[in-house]
Formats: sequence, structure tokens, C-alpha cells
Amino acid sequence: MNAQTDSSWKGIILAGGAGTRLHPITLVSSKQMLPVYDKPMIYYPLSTLMLGGINDVLVISTPKDLPRFEELLGDGSSIGVKFSYAVQAEPRGIAEAFIVGRKFIGQSNVCLILGDNMFYGKMDFLRNALKRRAGATVFGYPVQDPKRYGVVEFDSTGKVLSIEEKPARPKSKFAIPGLYCYDNRVVEVAGSLEPSPRGELEITDVNKSYLKAGELHVELLGRGMAWLDTGTPRSLLEAGNFVASIENRQGLKIGCIEEIAFRMGWISVTQLEHLAMAMKGNEYGMYLKSVVDEQGFMSGR
Ligand code: TTP
Repeated sequence: MNAQTDSSWKGIILAGGAGTRLHPITLVSSKQMLPVYDKPMIYYPLSTLMLGGINDVLVISTPKDLPRFEELLGDGSSIGVKFSYAVQAEPRGIAEAFIVGRKFIGQSNVCLILGDNMFYGKMDFLRNALKRRAGATVFGYPVQDPKRYGVVEFDSTGKVLSIEEKPARPKSKFAIPGLYCYDNRVVEVAGSLEPSPRGELEITDVNKSYLKAGELHVELLGRGMAWLDTGTPRSLLEAGNFVASIENRQGLKIGCIEEIAFRMGWISVTQLEHLAMAMKGNEYGMYLKSVVDEQGFMSGR
């Protein structure tokens, strides 16, 4: 496979926040470092960006937790990714990512993913969204309890009528997942926001600004996609069980960043083999080795 990188896009993983719904689990630990079955939670949103072709990624977290993410992910060179790191001093809202990340973003377009969001299924929806260079693309996903999310309302032609943050009376069942693609103007838009009544810079206000300018695209995700978030004890367990079910059935891993780096053409089979050897005593390492061996078999190595 040839290297597949989209250099006009940069990625941000927002992995701070207070994680209060997971207390006491997150009283001293970072939510996005918690295990979702067999790997740290942040591997999943990272793998989504990677599958979209993005390998220049900023990780934003709290002053306390950021050093642990640096320790976990390093500079990214072993998986063909370039990681940068930045602190969000207080959880002042999702849209603050574009203020914290201003220098990193530079002149690029930017795709933001929340560190506790997981996507499973064909990633074409993201690759297609990243082909659009101007405006914003967000997604719509049917959920049973839209009140917990930003909710998007459409007319019969699919035109977006409204976006509301955690509405008491949702106008549709389509929640907006924590994956957002913006052109470079988002830096300016976020910089001009005022905090909401709950004291946060709201991502919904960013989306409303694009909507007002007629530049917001909403793509509905089919029911064949799984979108999970992991913010409560129950959803965390369900996400872990989901990953375990699929992985144990198929013998293929979800969110295995080393395998994805290899399949994207960002590292060689020899580099993958080194990564496998470093973990050879465990099941994860054995899995990486099986990807190497399968490759050897396919190429007659
Ligand atoms: P939330 O789940 O909305 O907030 P939280 O993680 O602080 O959890 P809780 O509601 O239980 O207190 O955040 C979604 C994601 O965005 C999550 O990965 C944390 C991240 N986040 C930040 O990094 N900074 C912020 O200012 C906010 C609001 C969220």
C-alpha cells in the first residue's frame, strides 16, 4: 500500500476535561488513559484520525495528565505520526481547543476529535469529509437520548435548520458526535466566542457560526457505523464489551495504532516487527507479530 497522508489537514485530540461522571475512577486518573478492553482509550480517537490520513496530531490535556500522554505516545516517530502536546489549564470548553492549538494549526484545516469518542465501521465518511477544503463538516448519528448531546434538525430536503446544545426538547434524534472538520477560519471563529451560561466555549456555537454563514455541512452516519462515547461507567463498560466481542470474533483488533500505521504505509514491515518484538511477551505483541507474518506470507518473504 502506498503512503496515504493528507497533509492539508492537522488533527487535534482533546483529552482533558474533568471526567466527573466517572468519579471516583477519574479522581486521580485521566479518563482518556483508562482501558477500553485491551488498550488505552485515546488509541481509539487517534486511530480514527490516522484512518482519515491525518498524521500530524496535537494532544491537548490537563497540566497534570499531559506528561503521561507524552510518555505513552512519545514523538510518534515509531508509528509515522508527528505528535505535539499542549495544556488546557482549565476545562473551559471544547472550542477552546482551537485557541490552545492556534500555533499548531497554523494555516491548515483541522479535524478535532474528543478523546472519549470511538468510531467503528467504514471510515469513508471521514475521508470524504476531508476532501472538502472549505467550510465545516460535522456528522449526525441517531441516538436514543439526544438530550445529552448537540442535536441537529433538518428539513425534508436535508437542509440544516438548527443546532442546539443539550436541548430539553430535542427537535430530532440526530446527535452530533465528537468529530468535527473545519477550515482554517475556525481559529478566528473560536477566538471570537463568548463563554456560554455554563462558562464554556461551546463547540455548538462554532457550528452555529458556520451554519449562519451557510458553510456547515452535516453528513449523516449510517446505522452500520458504531459511535460510542465512554463518559459514564456504563458506557465505558459497554464500549469495552463491544471491542472485546468484535476482536474475539474476528481475531482482528480495533484501534491498533501500530497496525494502522503499517496499513497506511507510514511504517515498514521491519518497523512493525520491531514494535511487535518490544511487546512480544503479551497478546498485543503477538497480534502485531501476526500482522507481520501475514504480510510476509502475502509477499512470499
Ligand atoms: P465531556 O464528557 O463533556 O466532559 P468531561 O470529560 O469533563 O466529563 P464530565 O462531563 O463527566 O465531567 O467532554 C468530552 C471530551 O472533551 C472529553 O474527552 C474531555 C474533553 N474536554 C476537554 O478536554 N476540555 C474541556 O474543556 C471539555 C469541556 C471537554
